[in-house]
Amino acid sequence: MEFRTRPVAYGSVGWHETVRLRDAVLRTPLGLAFSKAELEQEASQLHLGLYAGTTLAGVVVLVPPTSDSRIWKLRQMAVAPAFRGKRGGATLIAAAEREMRDQDAPEVMLHARESAVGFYTGHGYLAEDRVFEEVTIAHRCMWKTLDPTPPASVHEDLQEKTPLAETVNRSAIDI
Ligand SMILES: CC(C)(COP(=O)(O)OP(=O)(O)OC[C@H]1O[C@@H](n2cnc3c(N)ncnc32)[C@H](O)[C@@H]1OP(=O)(O)O)[C@@H](O)C(=O)NCCC(=O)NCCS
Repeated sequence: MEFRTRPVAYGSVGWHETVRLRDAVLRTPLGLAFSKAELEQEASQLHLGLYAGTTLAGVVVLVPPTSDSRIWKLRQMAVAPAFRGKRGGATLIAAAEREMRDQDAPEVMLHARESAVGFYTGHGYLAEDRVFEEVTIAHRCMWKTLDPTPPASVHEDLQEKTPLAETVNRSAIDI
């Protein structure tokens, strides 16, 4: 299946669609819902949509570093059930890492659900041992060091071959 990724502007119709997908995948099954305040905080975050044709198949959100920190955070990774196992998640995470590399991010972190730790490990992320609870379920912090963006010609070539061949070590998120 051919997927494409593109940025989604906060507050746009497309963004509301991504919120509905995140709600269905990441919140409703836990008996939770997004609060207005929670969503308002996302204005400064970067939203990437995964599309199969015109259909939204997945989403991920990137949080730029604050003040002196240079570490980005990857959160809210979700692929719609009908599109799982078709490399949509791999396409999304490669696009997210490309975006962060383009912005000279040295490192990314995330809070992974225990059930998704294997997915991130497969993409070069290292998990901390400590398990903690977030949105009522067990999570672990994961990290990855991002290599610098390759030269333009190589970069374009890699883009056509998602997922990227990663050579990384550490990185992380929160969901
Ligand atoms: C985790 C998730 C994003 C993966 O998306 P996906 O499109 O199904 O994944 P892909 O098809 O791109 O899989 C890429 C690789 O990861 C592996 N993989 C996918 N999900 C995995 C999981 N939960 N655990 C371990 N490995 C996993 C695949 O087997 C594949 O491996 P390969 O490269 O050896 O073939 C998706 O299952 C999802 O949205 N899950 C529910 C929400 C969730 O848990 N989000 C993460 C919150 S931290």
